[in-house]
Amino acid sequence: MAAAQYLYLWIVFNLSLFLALAQEENQFIYHGFNNSKLQLGGLAKILPNGLLRLTNTSELESGYAFYPSPFKFNSSSSQTLSFSTTFVFAMVSKAVNFGGNGLAFFISPSMNFTGAVAGAYLGLFNLTNNGQPNNHILAVELDTVESPEFYDIDGNHVGIDVNSLISNQSATASYFSNKEEKNETLELGSGKPIQIWIDYDGTEKLFNVTIAPLKIPKPNRPLLSKHLDLSEVLSESMYVGLSAATGTRISDHYILGWSFNKSGPAQNLDISKLPPPPPIPPPEKTSEGLDRTITVLLVAIAVVLITVGGAVYIVRKKKYEEVYEDWEKEYGPHRLSYKNLYKATKGFKEKEIIGQGGFGQVYRGVLPSNVQIAVKRISHNSNEGMKQFVAEIVSMRRLRHRNLVQLRGYCRPPELLKTGKATTSTDVFAFGAFMLEVACGRRPMEPGMVDLAAWVIDCWKRGAILDVSDPRLEGMYVEEQMELVLKLGLLCSHSNPETRPSMKQVTQYLDGETKLPSITPESTVIGAITARNEVPDIVLSFDSLSESISSHTLSTVDSILVLGR
Ligand SMILES: *[C@@H]1O[C@H](CO)[C@@H](O)[C@H](O)[C@H]1NC(C)=O
Ligand SMILES: *[C@@H]1O[C@H](CO)[C@@H](O)[C@H](O)[C@H]1NC(C)=O
Ligand SMILES: *[C@@H]1O[C@H](CO)[C@@H](O)[C@H](O)[C@H]1NC(C)=O
Ligand SMILES: *[C@@H]1O[C@H](CO)[C@@H](O)[C@H](O)[C@H]1NC(C)=O
Ligand SMILES: *[C@@H]1O[C@H](CO)[C@@H](O)[C@H](O)[C@H]1NC(C)=O
Ligand SMILES: *[C@@H]1O[C@H](CO)[C@@H](O)[C@H](O)[C@H]1NC(C)=O
Ligand SMILES: *[C@@H]1O[C@H](CO)[C@@H](O)[C@H](O)[C@H]1NC(C)=O
Ligand SMILES: *[C@@H]1O[C@H](CO)[C@@H](O)[C@H](O)[C@H]1NC(C)=O
Ligand SMILES: *[C@@H]1O[C@H](CO)[C@@H](O)[C@H](O)[C@H]1NC(C)=O
Repeated sequence: MAAAQYLYLWIVFNLSLFLALAQEENQFIYHGFNNSKLQLGGLAKILPNGLLRLTNTSELESGYAFYPSPFKFNSSSSQTLSFSTTFVFAMVSKAVNFGGNGLAFFISPSMNFTGAVAGAYLGLFNLTNNGQPNNHILAVELDTVESPEFYDIDGNHVGIDVNSLISNQSATASYFSNKEEKNETLELGSGKPIQIWIDYDGTEKLFNVTIAPLKIPKPNRPLLSKHLDLSEVLSESMYVGLSAATGTRISDHYILGWSFNKSGPAQNLDISKLPPPPPIPPPEKTSEGLDRTITVLLVAIAVVLITVGGAVYIVRKKKYEEVYEDWEKEYGPHRLSYKNLYKATKGFKEKEIIGQGGFGQVYRGVLPSNVQIAVKRISHNSNEGMKQFVAEIVSMRRLRHRNLVQLRGYCRPPELLKTGKATTSTDVFAFGAFMLEVACGRRPMEPGMVDLAAWVIDCWKRGAILDVSDPRLEGMYVEEQMELVLKLGLLCSHSNPETRPSMKQVTQYLDGETKLPSITPESTVIGAITARNEVPDIVLSFDSLSESISSHTLSTVDSILVLGR
């Protein structure tokens, strides 16, 4: 009898414990992440002081943190679709408001994001699955880089994303001040801790997102409020996570605390229990005040396309001393001093940026001799492919003393998008796109046109390849040279990286040292790029390449052509 009662008590006890545990799986709260049981992926790391760092400042990387057990969302009962979460984040970059790419809260059916890409994809999607309803991914993005291919409104916005990086609704980061009763803007990438509240009411089907600087109570009015039916998006078993990604722009992305609830409003975070926010580095002021820890490699490349020639300079600076790469010893120092480049670009001023390349920003600059240059800034620890590419260019002494004009930068070449890894042939591709752009005086993708490469091939097929030349030139160019640049541009743009010439070969062709292999518009070599359906990745990335080419670039192109004739 007593034994039976004991057993009964034991069962009741265990049942209630079980219920308590089951209920616990409906919610969690972390003030700092000491001893948290989050599942980390990519670069994510819990620092000794309790901060969760999703990424450091390595380029093109992503980091993830998941609550390790899934939550039950029942699509046939709207009430159970409700959830509420709040967390505190800080995005710290070397140059304030120049970090990237941002972070996201998301709900997904799995914790496997190996196929996803960093950069603008925020570690959540890739070119192929972006926009697919079978992703079943709901995300709120905190995006610090404007990506035109996703119709981003600016480089400081919050967006609600359903299966896609093209947001359902987005707004420039700001918060409603309860006290002042007006909106105040907020810089997501300022490095200061910011709190975000995400609340979804499954019955009302209303999705709210609210942000505010840490210590400011939740604003009475949300930044985003959108009617959304998530019954098709959230499935039975879903994981809750945070992701962050870097691209060519880099930040340390930190999380200070996080609470999530499926059975009521997320519990408020107790600010006094959060780990100390990460320090914000002092802004760069003078060349003396330059960040001492960052080691940068600076590359200035100048190319004359029509008269064929150019120059290359490599500079890197660590603290105040120059650091030499192994390959430099072999080829001799062709470098400008960091100081001169710093002056030329007015201290790498934001205003002087003319493009964002696959490996770093490109700045406009003027040397003391009044020569215009383009400076590509590459971090010293960038990947081997880039180093090889630079070494290869430097090795071309011939290029060095020719008529010095300008260069510009390129962005998001194809393999980079597909694999997230930059290679030498990636830059050759970008260079090809650049040559076509210069010769035609157009962006690679203009409204109403298929794409630049396809258009050049079309004209070539009709025996009128010169028709594509920039009309502003009024025919004042050497026909053979124009033809050479166009054909070489196509060759470099080939969808198969193996088929593209090396940068060394490119200069040899341009120099007239080596004859361009005889190619026809019908040859498979070129043809592949026109076959849109066969190589969707390439053509699509061509599109995104064009999006980032500013009108400023076109005027640069003009001057190259003017000097060229
Ligand atoms: C970022 O973290 C990874 C992995 O821990 C490391 O290999 C890399 O060097 C770090 N990058 C920087 C810039 O600290
Ligand atoms: C989902 O909700 C419906 C309607 O409330 C209910 O009948 C069903 O049992 C629920 N399913 C699960 C797996 O909880
Ligand atoms: C993760 O997904 C990739 C495909 O994207 C797949 O190749 C891999 O096997 C998956 N890993 C696990 C552990 O399921
Ligand atoms: C895109 O991501 C999905 C899902 O992670 C993966 O299965 C697929 O292989 C990826 N595609 C590419 C081209 O990497
Ligand atoms: C918004 O979300 C819905 C899913 O509820 C999706 O089908 C739709 O395509 C999205 N709209 C935009 C503009 O992204
Ligand atoms: C969302 O915001 C609106 C105000 O715009 C408010 O009426 C509603 O209660 C909020 N819903 C949630 C779930 O926070
Ligand atoms: C404040 O911002 C919200 C959300 O972007 C917007 O709907 C509202 O009109 C703004 N209010 C004022 C007074 O500007
Ligand atoms: C979840 O909501 C319930 C009901 O409002 C509340 O008692 C609990 O403290 C909340 N938990 C968290 C972690 O937010
Ligand atoms: C996390 O642990 C470290 C020691 O490992 C301690 O110094 C720190 O205060 C802890 N942080 C929190 C928020 O508990």
